[in-house]
Amino acid sequence: EQTGKSGYDHFMLKEINEQPTALRQCLSGRVDEVSGGVTVDELDDLDTPSAVQFVACGTSYHAALYATTLLHEVGIPANAYLASEYATTHPPLPNDTLVVGITQSGETADTLSALRNAESRGAETLALTNVVGSSAARECDHALYLRAGPEIGVAATKTFSSQLVGVNLLVERLRPSGSPTGELRSLIAGLRDLPGHVQQVLDDSTALELVDELFGAEAFFFIGRGLHYPVALEGALKFKEITYEHAEGFAAGELKHGPLALVTENTPVFAIVTGDDEEARKTLGNIKEVEARDAPVVAVTDGKAEVERYADYVLEIPETHERTSPVLANVQLQLVAYHMAARLGRSIDKPRNLAKSVTVE
Ligand code: G6P
Repeated sequence: EQTGKSGYDHFMLKEINEQPTALRQCLSGRVDEVSGGVTVDELDDLDTPSAVQFVACGTSYHAALYATTLLHEVGIPANAYLASEYATTHPPLPNDTLVVGITQSGETADTLSALRNAESRGAETLALTNVVGSSAARECDHALYLRAGPEIGVAATKTFSSQLVGVNLLVERLRPSGSPTGELRSLIAGLRDLPGHVQQVLDDSTALELVDELFGAEAFFFIGRGLHYPVALEGALKFKEITYEHAEGFAAGELKHGPLALVTENTPVFAIVTGDDEEARKTLGNIKEVEARDAPVVAVTDGKAEVERYADYVLEIPETHERTSPVLANVQLQLVAYHMAARLGRSIDKPRNLAKSVTVE
């Protein structure tokens, strides 16, 4: 098993470090900088639907939340459902809805069951998966493959980054004709630069030092807005999965509607802020609310909003397109979770009570 880890202490750390390669593989031959176009060979016969519903579990559900925001940007109504809720809550399925299962393994029982439910009601289905020949890939009408390579660690890392990129490919493939494409070139540049930017984060991250500072805290909170909201949820999920410490992710604007009651000088808050637009300014406001309660603030930022003025610690990410910055912020949070779990001596690759692929409902 040690050989399989290529010298790393854990598969998880190996897989975190494999992300530049995984993302290059995911993008290979699918984006064309010259024409500014996106091509996904396996989706040649997919038409633009009137609406999209995503079904997914765990980390993949966070990719689904990110995906809905992107679809809204191109004018397609979209919803993300927890797969375990989908079949029993009966969301209406209007004609011409595409139901997309996001599942790295392609074998999660809840997701398969939701996809089967949608199919039985006449929906066209698509699997966004890492495993060619998986049940989801075989059963759906279409499959988009992530090409991330095998992931052994129970905590999903490189497959989540690849899902976010895969979702961008899917959304651009579905973009209705006539919807403005002005932004497409800068997105393609952001995607092209992404593997290098991830490498930069891996090389320069100060997550290990940060863990020394935050060790022993009572609970860990993560906040983000817009495309960073799913990253806040994912940052917290990864943290609790492998450290067994209490961690929660919130939409930044929701803090004041309840969770703020939990915030004290013993609860570090990770805040993801990039750019310097209205969204960033609003999150800055939320950071000030947290600071006023004496909570240590860790800003995960590209520096544009000058959030470091209000933060106790900073995890830097390179400046990039707004759709690719969540991937970079998430890599920093993966490293924080990993180093904290390592320091606590946890069973990082096989956390207690969890399985890589859950094949029961
Ligand atoms: C399990 C894993 C999670 C994963 C979820 C969905 O619970 O422990 O890491 O996110 O299943 O897996 P999938 O293969 O469907 O993406």
